[in-house]
Amino acid sequence: MSVFITFEGPEGSGKSTIIKEVNEYLLNNYETLVTREPGGISLSESIRDLLLNDEHDMDGQTEALLFAASRRVHLVEKIIPALKNGKIVLCDRFIDSSLAYQGFARGLGFESIFTINQFAIDTYMPDLTIYLKLDPKIGLLRKKDNDIEHNRLDNEEVDFHERVVMGYNKLSEKYPNRIKTVNANQNVEAVLSDTIHIIEQFIKSRGERI
Ligand code: TMP
Repeated sequence: MSVFITFEGPEGSGKSTIIKEVNEYLLNNYETLVTREPGGISLSESIRDLLLNDEHDMDGQTEALLFAASRRVHLVEKIIPALKNGKIVLCDRFIDSSLAYQGFARGLGFESIFTINQFAIDTYMPDLTIYLKLDPKIGLLRKKDNDIEHNRLDNEEVDFHERVVMGYNKLSEKYPNRIKTVNANQNVEAVLSDTIHIIEQFIKSRGERI
């Protein structure tokens, strides 16, 4: 069964921990692919370095185009082949990150970001998106405390990260069938249990047993 599941949320929302655990759970019954954006393949990881390295300053449009280019090559080389092989793809960030970060927080607008991304992804929208919702201030503190990889966007003011969350909130209202919100301000066990429940419901709705 091929399913394309993406995980979204602000900095420090715990996506990578949850993806790892969800993957272990799903592997009991399914073949999976775990990957991330920007990155996942060599060319996209190089674009990630350009985008997230403090050395390079760039305007919002350039940033949005680089994220979209990285998304395109990663989709074509890694995600589509996995879906064609019947895998469940678990991807850390996808189009909603561009909509929330570049569209909303940078102020470029959902419409223009959606348009360039449509060119990048064709019809490959996620089937299900788990949005790990968290107060951005808590997320930034978690990131600092856990010494997680620092990136150029972490240098933005708290206001920027608050707009990112506002953007995600708007997206979850706009696409309630696809984007399911999980309260990430709980302990890991509770976040994981809520996430697995949503994924199980989704798989059952497709007529599959988990
Ligand atoms: P990560 O820390 O979750 O790996 O994400 C890398 C950073 O890139 C994070 O600050 C969010 C940002 N980002 C965007 O601004 N737009 C995008 O489209 C993607 C995929 C990530």
